[in-house]
Amino acid sequence: MAQFKVAVLPGDGIGPDITAEAVKVLGAVAARFGHGFVYTEALIGGAAIDAAGSPLPDETLSVCEASDAVLLGAIGGPKWDTTDPNGIRPEQGLLGIRKALGLYANLRPVRIFDALIDSSTVKPEVIRGVDIMIVRELTGGIYFGERGRVGDMAYDTETYHAFEVERIVRKACELARARGTSNVCSVDKANVLESSRLWREVAHKAVADYPDIELWDLLVDNCAMQLVKNPRQFDVVVMSNMFGDILSDEASMLSGSLGMLASASLGDGPGLYEPSHGSAPKYTGMDVANPTATVLSAALMLRYSFGLEEEAASIETAIERVLADGFRTKDIFEEGRELVGTSRMGDLVAERV
Ligand code: IPM
Ligand code: MN
Repeated sequence: MAQFKVAVLPGDGIGPDITAEAVKVLGAVAARFGHGFVYTEALIGGAAIDAAGSPLPDETLSVCEASDAVLLGAIGGPKWDTTDPNGIRPEQGLLGIRKALGLYANLRPVRIFDALIDSSTVKPEVIRGVDIMIVRELTGGIYFGERGRVGDMAYDTETYHAFEVERIVRKACELARARGTSNVCSVDKANVLESSRLWREVAHKAVADYPDIELWDLLVDNCAMQLVKNPRQFDVVVMSNMFGDILSDEASMLSGSLGMLASASLGDGPGLYEPSHGSAPKYTGMDVANPTATVLSAALMLRYSFGLEEEAASIETAIERVLADGFRTKDIFEEGRELVGTSRMGDLVAERV
C-alpha cells in the first residue's frame, strides 16, 4: 500500500470547514484504491498569529518540508486586518510558505461543468467547452519586490529576473504538451512596463526549445476583455504573479463561482494545494461554504504530487455527478436544485468516489 504524508493547514474563516471535506473525500479515495494518507495538521495565517505570534511558525514549515504535499484551506479575516506597514498579517503566512517552499508555478484550471453552464453570469454559448489552464508565476513580481513608505508616499516594486520568467514559461510549455495543445498565451503589459518587456523577450527565447508550441502575446487589459468576450480562444495562459491573481478571479466566474476554482502550486519540493478563493470570514463555521475548489485541489494533489491520475479523475467525475444530480451549495444555487451545506456536499462527493 502506498503511503503519502500530507500536511494540512486549515487556516482561518471557512478554511477548517473546506479542508475537512477534502480530507473526507481523500478518505474515500484511500478506501477505494487502497492508498494510505497520513495527515499532520499545522497552523498558518491568523490562527497561527493568535496561537504562536507568527503567521508562519517554524514548526509549520518543518511539517510541510517533511511532507509529500500540503493541503491548505484559506487565510485572513477582519480580525487581523491592519494598514500598519509594520503590522503582522495572515497573508504573510501564505506568501511566506509559497516563497519558502519555492512554489514558483501556480496552476489554476478553469473548466466548465456541464451542469453549471446556465448558472454562470456569462452566456452559455460563450462558455460551453471552456478549458483554460492559468499558469501564474507565484514567487516573484510585485508581491515580493521592495516596498515601503517615505513620508506620505508609498511604493511597491515589480521585479523579474530572466530565470524566473524562463522557468515559468517552460512550465507552461510542458503543461501545454501534456494537454496536447500548442496554444500558449503569454500575458504582459509590455507597452508600459520594462519588467513586461523583459518577460516578453525571455518568453520567446525560452519557447525556442519547444518547436511544437505557438506562443502568442497579449496585453493584460486586452486579456481581461477577451476572457469574457471569447474565452474558448485560450488554452494555456502564462503570466506574472499580480496579473495571475487578478485574471484568475475573473476567469473563475466563467465556471459560475470562485468556489469552483482549484489551484496547485509547484516547485521542486512538496507541492501546495489550495482553493483560489479567500477565507470568507462571514461564513465561518456556518456550513454554507462550497468545498468544491478545495476538493478539486486535493484531486490536483493526487495528479501532480503523487502521480495518481485515475484517483484524481475519480474525484473530478464524482463532482460532475453530484452537480448533474442537482445538488448545489449556496454560491451556485438556482431554483429547482437541492441546496446543500459544506459537509453534505463533501459526503455526496465521497459517496460517488
Ligand atoms: C490568492 C490570494 C492571495 C494572493 C492572497 C490571500 C495573499 O488572493 O491566492 O489568489 O493574492 O495570492
Ligand atoms: Mn487572489
